[in-house]
Amino acid sequence: MDIQIDELKDMKVVPMDLLMLADPSEEMIQEYLPRSMGFAAREADKLVGVLLMMRTRPKTMEIMNISVLETHQNKGIGRQLIGRAVEKARQEKARVLEIYTGNPGTIQMLLYQKCGFRIVGVDLDYCRIHYNEKLMDNGIECRDMIRMKMDL
Ligand SMILES: CC(C)(COP(=O)(O)OP(=O)(O)OC[C@H]1O[C@@H](n2cnc3c(N)ncnc32)[C@H](O)[C@@H]1OP(=O)(O)O)[C@@H](O)C(=O)NCCC(=O)NCCS
Repeated sequence: MDIQIDELKDMKVVPMDLLMLADPSEEMIQEYLPRSMGFAAREADKLVGVLLMMRTRPKTMEIMNISVLETHQNKGIGRQLIGRAVEKARQEKARVLEIYTGNPGTIQMLLYQKCGFRIVGVDLDYCRIHYNEKLMDNGIECRDMIRMKMDL
C-alpha cells in the first residue's frame, strides 16, 4: 500500500462521511472545518484518511478530527497522520497538542498513547451535553470525553 500524506489546501475536498467516522455531528464538523488546517492521506488519488487540527488557545493546538476509511484502518495511516500533526504543531510554535476521545475509544486511546499523548482529564457527560442523540460505540454509551495531551 503506497500512501502519500500531504497538507490539505482546500477543506472543501474532504467528504463529510469520512469526517463523520470520528464525529457524528455534522453541525460541529461544519463549525471547526473552515477554521482547521490538516493533512490528507491518499492512496493513488483516493482520499483514505484525514486529520484536522486548529489553534484553540495561545500555544495550544487540538486535533479536531482523525478519520481513516475502514478498509484502510490498522495499517499505520493514523499514526503517520498524527506524526505530521505533531510536526506541524511544533512549526506553528505550539507548546501543547491536545486530542479528545470518547470513553469507549480503547483503540484510539492506545494509538494516542503510542504517539506520546497522556490522559489528563475526563469531561464527565460531555457527550450527553453536546450531542442530541445517544451515542453508542463498542457496545456501550459514549458518555464522557477523555482529554489527552502532549507537551511539545
Ligand atoms: C482511530 C483511527 C484514526 C486510527 O487510525 P489507523 O490508521 O487505523 O491506526 P494505525 O494503523 O496507525 O494504528 C496504530 C495503533 O493503533 C492500534 N490499532 C489501530 N487499529 C486497531 C485495531 N483495529 N485493533 C487493535 N489495535 C488497533 C494499534 O495499537 C496500532 O499500533 P501498532 O501499529 O503498534 O500495532 C481509525 O481507526 C479511525 O478512523 N477510526 C474511526 C474514526 C475514529 O474513531 N476517529 C478517532 C475519534 S477520537
